Amino acid sequence: GVLGIAGAGAQGFPTRTITLVVPFAAGGPSDAIGRLVAQSMSQTLGQQVIVENVAGAGGTTGAARVAKAEPDGHTLLIHHLALPAGPALYKSLAYDTRTAFEPVGLVNTGPMALVSKKDFPAKTAKDLFAYLKRDGASVNIAHAGVGSNSHICAVMLSQAVGFKPTYVSYRGTGPAMNDLVGGQVDVLCDQSTTAVPQIEGGAVIGHAVTSAERLAVLKDVPTSAEAGLPALDMTVWHGIYAPAGTPKDRIATLHAALQKAIADPTIVERFAAVGTQVYPPAERSVDAHRKRFLAEIDRIAELMKAAGVAAQ
Ligand code: MLT
Repeated sequence: GVLGIAGAGAQGFPTRTITLVVPFAAGGPSDAIGRLVAQSMSQTLGQQVIVENVAGAGGTTGAARVAKAEPDGHTLLIHHLALPAGPALYKSLAYDTRTAFEPVGLVNTGPMALVSKKDFPAKTAKDLFAYLKRDGASVNIAHAGVGSNSHICAVMLSQAVGFKPTYVSYRGTGPAMNDLVGGQVDVLCDQSTTAVPQIEGGAVIGHAVTSAERLAVLKDVPTSAEAGLPALDMTVWHGIYAPAGTPKDRIATLHAALQKAIADPTIVERFAAVGTQVYPPAERSVDAHRKRFLAEIDRIAELMKAAGVAAQ
């Protein structure tokens, strides 16, 4: 009530449960990263930070939810490259990507891993690229919706190899990976976060990683450059956002709780085990986040233009 609010005062934030919107299905990379960070932030903030999966339209449905939320710091968004990719891929977003969100901080950064179903005829990256070049249209490529990382990676793959992909869209790469393991789709380019355990377990074939160096946890999987496709170079990252207009002192409180989370050795270790890393310390500021976010809007627009992918 009124007394509660008055009593809370400027320092009394957060005053209730915080909702962290994950704009993709449960069981995928954004969900995994979001849940780890939410748990740590709950402890620091002294209020529950609960994850809510609001999936659909390549992550733009969840983003719209947060853009329209009360800007009081109790509704947050964890998102990635798909947030700045939005304007290049969707004609009528429910929000203005450049101004609707207040960056809270970057979380992690890592590569994508190109994987195929276990019994796919091409067993190596080189064989896969040759197969796609020859017969790419017959291959079903899963992704998490237009504009998602997995979609952007598939577009880059089709550009680099030179074939017209046949896409199968999901509400996240959690369900996409399930179907790849089950053999219902052929190929997926997913964040290492969910791909690494499946490759390690032998449930899928790991063809290539999109980083300059091999991953320590996937020593046998070549980089795309080693496999002859240097253009398949992709780095992904997550960041946390609040709705525009959220008071600066609340952003600062949330930013500090996020810093504590990504400095936690348990989180550092759990990220590393799946081939991603906490964001480099020198670039953890809110300003660095804003800069990266805005730069990606232009970069992805150029990439999609070059690939001939128009907004839908
Ligand atoms: C997910 O959590 O499903 C992914 O982040 C989707 C993607 O961008 O590929």
